Amino acid sequence: LPPLQDVARSNPNVTAVFLETIQGEGGINASRWDYLQGLRRLCDERGWLLMLDEVQCGIGRTGKWFAHQWAGIQPDVMPLAKGLGSGVPIGAIVAGPKARGCWARATTAPPSAAIRWPCAPVLKRCASWKKTALLANAASVGKALHDGLARELAGLAGVKEIRGAGLMIGIELTRPCGVLLGRAAEAGLDAQRHRRQRDPPGAAADPQP
Ligand SMILES: Cc1ncc(COP(=O)(O)O)c(C=O)c1O
Repeated sequence: LPPLQDVARSNPNVTAVFLETIQGEGGINASRWDYLQGLRRLCDERGWLLMLDEVQCGIGRTGKWFAHQWAGIQPDVMPLAKGLGSGVPIGAIVAGPKARGCWARATTAPPSAAIRWPCAPVLKRCASWKKTALLANAASVGKALHDGLARELAGLAGVKEIRGAGLMIGIELTRPCGVLLGRAAEAGLDAQRHRRQRDPPGAAADPQP
């Protein structure tokens, strides 16, 4: 937080802080929960908007609907996509009362049918997820996967860290791993397909049936 506090002192033009709650493509780097809590306090003190990108870590992937819930805080603005659509091309920006008035009404919009068709299946999916144990599944399968990976890989030369939350897990290696992706593809595991994250985020099956 100190670098942000410095910015707060020296720059009166800041209006918002924007970050991923858990960095995805950047390497599965989770914000510390106490850091997020401090950030929430700082944003409240300064009147800044706290904007948390949950495009990748939201919609159940970590075992909560949204990853910031692990820190017990609420953002003012939150973009969502990926798991929200499970393959349907849709994104959303969720905004709380502090962000009210920040958006101008769009002067052009797609035809209403174009808006409705992705919304209807997504709303149905959200309702069905509420009925299933999606969140608990993501937490328990994620833990089983994390424990299994730690058991098999921790301590191996080249494995630096296994980290993440729920089913959002990353393995940091000490060397570039392009060759491993090639070998995975040869063995029939299409890592790129999984990177696209089309499947419902918490719906993975237990790795040890
Ligand atoms: C965390 C996060 N935010 C936003 C996006 C969306 O990026 P774009 O608008 O470039 O598709 C992605 C895509 O990978 C992402 O992982």
